[in-house]
Amino acid sequence: MPLLEKVTIENIGAEGKSIARVDNVVVFVKEAVPGDVADLQVFRKKGRYMEARVVKYHSYSDQRTEAFCKHFGICGGCKWQHLPYERQLFYKEQQVVDAFRHIAGVKIPETMPILASDPTTLYRNKLEYTFSNRRWLLDEEAASDIPLEHTNAVGLHVPGRYDKVVDLEKCYLQDSPSNEIRNFLRELALEMKLSFYDHKTNEGLLRNLIIRTSTLGEVMVILSVQFDVPELYELLEAVKIQFPDLSSLMYVINPKKNESLYDQDIICFSGRDHIFEQLEDLKFKIGPKSFFQTNSYQALRLYQVTREFAGLNGDEVLYDLYTGTGTIANFMAAHASRVVGIESVPESIEDAKVNSQLNGIENTSFFAGDMKDIFDESFIAQNGKADVIITDPPRAGMHAKVVEQILKMSPGRIVYVSCNPATQARDVELLARSYKVTRIQPVDMFPHTHHVENVALLELI
Ligand SMILES: C[S@@+](CC[C@H](N)C(=O)[O-])C[C@H]1O[C@@H](n2cnc3c(N)ncnc32)[C@H](O)[C@@H]1O
Repeated sequence: MPLLEKVTIENIGAEGKSIARVDNVVVFVKEAVPGDVADLQVFRKKGRYMEARVVKYHSYSDQRTEAFCKHFGICGGCKWQHLPYERQLFYKEQQVVDAFRHIAGVKIPETMPILASDPTTLYRNKLEYTFSNRRWLLDEEAASDIPLEHTNAVGLHVPGRYDKVVDLEKCYLQDSPSNEIRNFLRELALEMKLSFYDHKTNEGLLRNLIIRTSTLGEVMVILSVQFDVPELYELLEAVKIQFPDLSSLMYVINPKKNESLYDQDIICFSGRDHIFEQLEDLKFKIGPKSFFQTNSYQALRLYQVTREFAGLNGDEVLYDLYTGTGTIANFMAAHASRVVGIESVPESIEDAKVNSQLNGIENTSFFAGDMKDIFDESFIAQNGKADVIITDPPRAGMHAKVVEQILKMSPGRIVYVSCNPATQARDVELLARSYKVTRIQPVDMFPHTHHVENVALLELI
């Protein structure tokens, strides 16, 4: 594979990949930023593009800034810290505009400036740390002959390495007491000589630590271990004493090879088995398995934009497709005559109903099922035709059958919320048969990453 010398990085494109151009061939580069000049080693060549990694920098871009986290560069948490926040916002907005121009090929109204996140650090309400007995070694440790005391770690994965974990000292993603709990557990586990999980052999006790927080100051801790031993309860008791204000302390014994907890019993050790979050005057009950937007501050802004775009006057039948735990449906309920939420995960639908009850909302109904199967003519006959649809699908976007059904139903407005502008633009191209894009509002939910959320309003032509 060729080595490309002294190449200037020009731009950042979809999925946050940097872009250079050599002899009219596009080269995607992972680490560099626009303005860097570097030698690039190509590792993949396709017809119209190549993928390469930087092997040597000749000069650094003046767009760069100093990363504020000591773990930056190794940790997979926030890969854009070397770009000033203003530049991050610029490239995120550009991703949305490019997707609509090049993929949807539709005329778009002037994009409203992306809604910046406030705060830009400590913004996550859920973080999952991993225990591993294969700590990522710092250069000086790897080069040293002195034997290491241990190689245990608890933190976030090294990108592309399922077994290697960065031993985090301070993480800027989640507010206190997240760092304190993780560090306390690490120290105690080392002192008690408990084993950290080996992701290659599937041996070891300690597996994951999930911490959920809310803007109300509530904290849920879930410790995942591979097997049941008395030391587990000693550990939990110590956490309970050290952090007496926890709202919920839970554990799970997961003997499976994979880490997913969705099919596992999560047991309450102390406190409640849920925490609460609040957006405006609505309360949301969040269990250990419940989905909730990860940045509560921006979730509120995202839903406010969605509500504004929906333009409800109180008389409408509103459908909330891919409703999750019904957050959008409940947030909109006071502004519509009826709200119908659909979602594939039955437990989420149960949460959605609980959240309606909790807030005294009586005009919502929720249904579990795969969207492409459940959202059909007979469902619409039973639940009524929507005047407005809000759709917030997963990254893959909507199934073509779902898009067809929306076109058939032809609501006056569609508010399309998306975490992937590329699939959103693909679906908008199909909807453009009958709809015109009249407003677009990107929202930054994940500072220091390339991810961007976008809300588009489509109106029936
Ligand atoms: C981006 S989330 C939406 C979250 C929700 N609107 C909120 O703001 O909390 C996408 C949701 O789509 C659901 N989902 C994924 N595939 C689905 C399918 N084929 N049919 C129905 N729902 C699906 C997921 O379970 C997830 O809850």
